[in-house]
Amino acid sequence: MIKISHSPEETLQLGKSLGSLLVAGDIILLFGDLGAGKTSLTQGICYGLELDKDSYIRSPTFTLINEYPGRLPIYHIDLYRVDSQKEIYSLGLEEILFNQGVTIIEWAEKLRSPKNPETLMLNIQDRLEINIKIISDSEREFTFNAFFPEPRPLPVFTLL
Ligand SMILES: Nc1ncnc2c1ncn2[C@@H]1O[C@H](COP(=O)(O)OP(=O)(O)O)[C@@H](O)[C@H]1O
Ligand SMILES: [Mg+2]
Repeated sequence: MIKISHSPEETLQLGKSLGSLLVAGDIILLFGDLGAGKTSLTQGICYGLELDKDSYIRSPTFTLINEYPGRLPIYHIDLYRVDSQKEIYSLGLEEILFNQGVTIIEWAEKLRSPKNPETLMLNIQDRLEINIKIISDSEREFTFNAFFPEPRPLPVFTLL
């Protein structure tokens, strides 16, 4: 499924409708270049998970992992600065991923094994992959690929 957002506000709204549908244990993988809108979408997802509007969400650049209290615990991970598989393994992400929160990972490209791009590191199987492409200054293309054993409702988008 592909959706176009025409503004940062639409992206926030898109994240919000997605966040409202998430359940414990969900993993969201975000792919896309710098400035694509991964963090903006994450903010929306957090609001959809009922995180306080005043909470400040930004990429966990130095800590790598931020935790926010929503209706479920939210773990926001940014792998931008990670440059080896060894480093990824050393983060102990399994404990977070296979727990009762929602995990959102920016720069999920780094989780693809170079030898076998079909396979994700850390034994990630069930997940929603979102690819974000920059179309113009204000437009972004979102491509959703759900990998779940059972069909899941995707957000009722207001976007065209
Ligand atoms: N339709 C849009 N959706 C999201 N961001 C947009 C859009 N149009 C312009 N932008 C701008 O793109 C940037 C996205 O930044 P950010 O979410 O931090 O990206 P990333 O985390 O992918 O690096 C912001 O400066 C935002 O204002
Ligand atoms: Mg970011």
